[in-house]
Amino acid sequence: MNAPTEGTLLEQSISTGIEEVVRRRRAIHSFVPGPNITQEQWHKLFELTALTPSSYNFQPWDFIVVEDQKQRADLQPLCWNQQQVMDSVAVVAVLGDKNPHRRDEQILQQFVDDGYFNDEVKQTLKGSIDVVYPDEARRIEHAVCGASLAAMTFMLVADGMGLGTAPLIGFDPKGVAEYLKVPDDYLVVMLLCVGHPSHKELPRQPRRGYEDFVHWTKFGGKA
Ligand SMILES: Cc1cc2nc3c(=O)[nH]c(=O)nc-3n(C[C@H](O)[C@H](O)[C@H](O)COP(=O)(O)O)c2cc1C
Repeated sequence: MNAPTEGTLLEQSISTGIEEVVRRRRAIHSFVPGPNITQEQWHKLFELTALTPSSYNFQPWDFIVVEDQKQRADLQPLCWNQQQVMDSVAVVAVLGDKNPHRRDEQILQQFVDDGYFNDEVKQTLKGSIDVVYPDEARRIEHAVCGASLAAMTFMLVADGMGLGTAPLIGFDPKGVAEYLKVPDDYLVVMLLCVGHPSHKELPRQPRRGYEDFVHWTKFGGKA
């Protein structure tokens, strides 16, 4: 295959429709009533969310889906009484896994079986896990990083399916973890309320211009 030129790269990125989805997605504050999410829709949402990249392919995320209204009513006071918890059709807790290495043997062996690297490299990689995840602080960082990327995939896929999402970090993490019986290895990284958007959101808040947040060559470097 020929190396892509600047022109073909631009064409490809536009043809995937990704720009449209990224521009359209909003954090939804106003949901309207509507049908529950079907099992087929959940399947599609999570099947595509599973394609999120992660270090060592450890996939440090789990999700708890809460559809039941009574359960959501219990959660609402733990979420600063935010209305999206009740007005959406489901609340999805995105968990970050601080110990995804419990699956290291199976995951790294799959790389060997598929011809990515040999057994020697696999052993070296296994040895590197303690370097990459040396302490609780780094494990938390990896868990939050992986789960957040998965949450973003989920939000974009949901948008593509005509659903709206409200990411929430305004909640009592201890209270929510206890209520959902989350084991100690996991953090509740964020909640995603999923439902039918009213399409009455206020205009999007401005973003910093990329000149302000992109540094060239070194921090502070100009283009
Ligand atoms: C991790 C995360 C946590 C958030 N937590 C809350 C929240 O608790 N309550 C809320 O109303 N909005 C919350 N938001 C929504 C943001 O305010 C919103 O994404 C931001 O203002 C940009 O708007 P937009 O997503 O529509 O572009 C959160 C967003 C993210 C990504």
